Amino acid sequence: MELKFVLQMVSFLNYSLRFRNRFLKLLSPVLYDLPAPVNLTIFWNFGSLLGVCLVVQIVTGLLMAVHYTPEVGQAFDSVVHIMRDVNGGWFLRSLHANGASFFFGCIYLHIGRGIFYHSFFMVHTWMVGCTLLIVLMAIAFTGYVLPWGQMSFWGATVITNLFSAIPYIGSSLVEWLWGGFCVGDATLKRFFVFHFLAPFILLVLVGVHIVFLHDTGSGNPLGIDSDAEAVPFHSYYILKDLVGIVIMVGILFLVVFCEPDFFSDPTNYMPADPMKTPLHIQPEWYFLFAYTILRSIPNKLGGVLALAGSVAILYLLPFYPKSLWRGSQYNPLAQFVFWVFIGNFIVLTFIGMCPVESPFDLIGMFTSVLYFLFYIVYPFTWFLWEYFVFDENIF
Ligand code: HEM
Repeated sequence: MELKFVLQMVSFLNYSLRFRNRFLKLLSPVLYDLPAPVNLTIFWNFGSLLGVCLVVQIVTGLLMAVHYTPEVGQAFDSVVHIMRDVNGGWFLRSLHANGASFFFGCIYLHIGRGIFYHSFFMVHTWMVGCTLLIVLMAIAFTGYVLPWGQMSFWGATVITNLFSAIPYIGSSLVEWLWGGFCVGDATLKRFFVFHFLAPFILLVLVGVHIVFLHDTGSGNPLGIDSDAEAVPFHSYYILKDLVGIVIMVGILFLVVFCEPDFFSDPTNYMPADPMKTPLHIQPEWYFLFAYTILRSIPNKLGGVLALAGSVAILYLLPFYPKSLWRGSQYNPLAQFVFWVFIGNFIVLTFIGMCPVESPFDLIGMFTSVLYFLFYIVYPFTWFLWEYFVFDENIF
């Protein structure tokens, strides 16, 4: 009898809090009572994982920022100080540096899911997503410069120099970016300010991303309307997202504690030296696909345009004509083309680590062309397949 009374009270409190409390009333339709499709697979986990990555990066970044010095003579040493003297500093730095890799791993899987299931037809959510990717790339690039190691300095020099390929304003633009006539103290200081500030812009953009998502509701792996089968977000997807978070944080901790240098370049353990160019300059793994595309085009402006185009092309996907089926799950032809694209992305990433010599230069050119070809061929596979399914006399 007493237990029943307690349970009734808990249930009443739960209800009254969710619907009467001014703050929880706003939160409930987003995290608790939100109707969600019943059949979401683990490929719908990466959005929440991206949110976790963002929070981890902001918290660890803020805690490190209070010990870091954005000055060319002290930046490298201040990072060594964080690693050796600050309580738990090694943990913060390792979590932050490896967290960036996990962030990109999740975002590429999130985009891959979107391409496979045609989520890009959620136009507003997708467009904000593309902007999130570009801002995230800028944050990662500026962050890599901060430890002021050899790869930080030369990476910054190579990438900022790309802007000089822009006709007429190029060289003035580069000097404006540098705050001088080379990558130096002014560059480091502005990169630090950007790297500190932009994650909060990202946070606002994520809010907009979610607002647009809730306007249409989530898609689902069947690609059909699922409104009649919706389940409340709590407890179904709170628990499913929690499982994903525990697994991702588990793997992240495994890297942080056992292989903290797994993703990093040993060259960056040398302080920046403007008089000594490293033998191989290469970015972190998540930029290698674009780096290969950049290096595969013999013309500087052409390379820069292809580099920018390799990311900007995502903005065009919502303008594809709509297919009869939403997604590639029933279309073996589209699946074949999609998986070739994924394989090609991995080869592009690998080639970015190789020296520019035979046969890597040729493979780089071939895979770069294949990368852009995918975006042309993919929609054709939808309509070819529809034609094949509905017209028996196709062959
Ligand atoms: C900081 C980066 C990002 C965060 C925190 C984020 C967060 C989320 C979350 C929480 C969801 C709902 C759960 C899910 O479907 O996985 C979602 C869905 C979605 N996101 Fe993102 N996202 C990010 C980046 C991107 C990018 C780069 C794109 C595309 C270029 C994108 C496109 C989409 C689309 C289309 C959906 C709806 C998918 C569907 O329901 O079928 N997002 N996002």
